[in-house]
Amino acid sequence: MLQFDVTHALPFLPKNWMSSRLDGLTEACNLLERGNGLGGQFTGWVKLPETYDRQEVQRLLQTAQIIRKQSDVLIVIGIGGSYLGSRALLELLASPHYNLLARKTPQIFFTGNTLSSDAMTELLDYVRDRDFSINVVSKSGDTTETAIAFLLFRQLLEEKYGKDGARDRIFVTTDRHEGTLRALASRAGYATFSVPASIGGRYSVLTAAGLLPLAAAGLDIQDLLMGAADARKLVSKPGQDNPAWQYAAARNALYGEGKNIEVLACYEPHLRAFGEWWKQLFGESEGKEGQGVFPASVEFTADLHSMGQYIQEGSRNLFETVVRFNVPQSSCLLDPTPGDGSGLDYLRGRDLRFVNEQARRGTALAHTAGGVPNLLLTAGERTPYWAGQLVYFFEYACGLSGYLSGVNPFDQPGVEAYKHNMFALLGKPGYEAQRKAFLDQMEE
Ligand code: PA5
Repeated sequence: MLQFDVTHALPFLPKNWMSSRLDGLTEACNLLERGNGLGGQFTGWVKLPETYDRQEVQRLLQTAQIIRKQSDVLIVIGIGGSYLGSRALLELLASPHYNLLARKTPQIFFTGNTLSSDAMTELLDYVRDRDFSINVVSKSGDTTETAIAFLLFRQLLEEKYGKDGARDRIFVTTDRHEGTLRALASRAGYATFSVPASIGGRYSVLTAAGLLPLAAAGLDIQDLLMGAADARKLVSKPGQDNPAWQYAAARNALYGEGKNIEVLACYEPHLRAFGEWWKQLFGESEGKEGQGVFPASVEFTADLHSMGQYIQEGSRNLFETVVRFNVPQSSCLLDPTPGDGSGLDYLRGRDLRFVNEQARRGTALAHTAGGVPNLLLTAGERTPYWAGQLVYFFEYACGLSGYLSGVNPFDQPGVEAYKHNMFALLGKPGYEAQRKAFLDQMEE
């Protein structure tokens, strides 16, 4: 089971950091389990590890096989919660260098998350002469970045394979009933998968939104779901020994002590993209109504040589949450020849894992001495099963933490602001008044 260690944060926490939050956590847990809190209509992810659609998972596995057979490249089109989870788990479980290493499975590129014409052109050019398929992921089906990328890649597919050939290479993940994408997919006859209406984007990694690209990469999505189910048994059980309760309480108490930035730290490059997923999860869930811990992420030891200085000695409003695996998948023994000039004789016979672990311990000591509380979450191995545990642990802790601070952890009203302005500036029908106001303002 996941282990959560608060020892290195205790000197920074008030004595009653947990006891004073037990009532709040009990209430938050009930709200999540009953789905009757703020945004309760979006708590479908809570019971998902037990209730997920087994038939849909079988269909995902079959589709993944088709994608593998017919394509050298899979283009995953989506933004925010519609790609961060699958990217995080692909990099965590396969490799950040997956596309260089993939032999029997397609390369996977993520797009639909940018409006950069350079980035788009680069990827369009890359797949022009390769066999590729598309998995477009958008719950609402209306997201501009996603819609534009889908348009461009669909046109290229149709150019290459004709409309009928393209149809066999387009896989759509969207709302079961509603939205532009659902309508388009029904009209064109594309294969579709659903994101349940009760699950918002950033909580959707264990739905088809996250699972199809992972299955295409040959990763064991059933083990992932099993890990999530086991984590659910752990974190849905009320009590102060529950690691999700401890994490939610500790970060809430640290925030109360003025620590308003949380840095998610890891010692594995494979976890870097996981930090991006985690940032969206907590940032969009809690950053509202003028409050919320600002989520940041670093990969050590690389970032000890860039962000390490700030963390050690900059503004003292940070705390750190380290995610680590207990057992590495590989061993890398150091065997310097005596007198070879490397200066590493003292490490003879050591495994690189040992060195990495001492870096983590040394950093925890240094950062806590420097005034940065250090929380530690340990998972067993870098496998789909443990990744499922991590995902569910953070989702549940985020729900608890949001309710503990009194916000709706399942909406994102702030994401709309830029969209409306952009639509007005682009001249989208329906935004005429706002456009006129902007243009008048610019003339003044
Ligand atoms: O968490 C969220 O709800 C958002 O990040 C969405 O996932 C993101 O805006 C993309 O939305 P959609 O899937 O509707 O295209």
